[in-house]
Amino acid sequence: MRMRRAHIGRVVEIMLHAEPWQSYDFSPDRIADYLGGMVDAGMARVLAVPDAGHAPAGEEIAGVCIVQPSFLGGRFLEILALDTPYRRRGLGRAILEAICDECPPQLRDYFVLVAGSNANAVAFYKRLGFVDVGDLPGLIRPDKVERLIWWRFR
Ligand SMILES: CC(C)(COP(=O)(O)OP(=O)(O)OC[C@H]1O[C@@H](n2cnc3c(N)ncnc32)[C@H](O)[C@@H]1OP(=O)(O)O)[C@@H](O)C(=O)NCCC(=O)NCCS
Repeated sequence: MRMRRAHIGRVVEIMLHAEPWQSYDFSPDRIADYLGGMVDAGMARVLAVPDAGHAPAGEEIAGVCIVQPSFLGGRFLEILALDTPYRRRGLGRAILEAICDECPPQLRDYFVLVAGSNANAVAFYKRLGFVDVGDLPGLIRPDKVERLIWWRFR
């Protein structure tokens, strides 16, 4: 579902407990400001799942996905993050497949910037078929390497 400003607090919490944002030590305010801009631009979505802890049936925000609609002739997946209990259950793959399915037929490329140190994310994207474009040392932090990766999904 489309992310609303009311979701920002929960999404900040998810990102602060996920790589790479955890090791990059971004402040909650900085992440919240960024998310506010993405919400206003209509580019952010959240994944809502039934929350077993609430009665009767409640919903919990399990993750966030932000897509830039135009990048190098394709799309750019800017943020994909699931809260820890929702990882390794097929949700990341399902989200990526869903956002690819909704692309118009002439659009067939997805790009992602992944932290080179984020071995889990690198393994995930490789499993889905992403290939390396190249490293961008120091793009975000002088001591970190970002990696641009690319998936021609159709
Ligand atoms: C990266 C992330 C989005 C992956 O989503 P996920 O729901 O955990 O991944 P899935 O369960 O859909 O896995 C899809 C495939 O990738 C593989 N995979 C996922 N994580 C993996 C890992 N850490 N190591 C090896 N393979 C992995 C799965 O085995 C699966 O393969 P299969 O379908 O052939 O069995 C999620 O783990 C996450 O939010 N991590 C923290 C934030 C993050 O790193 N985001 C990316 C920043 S660019």
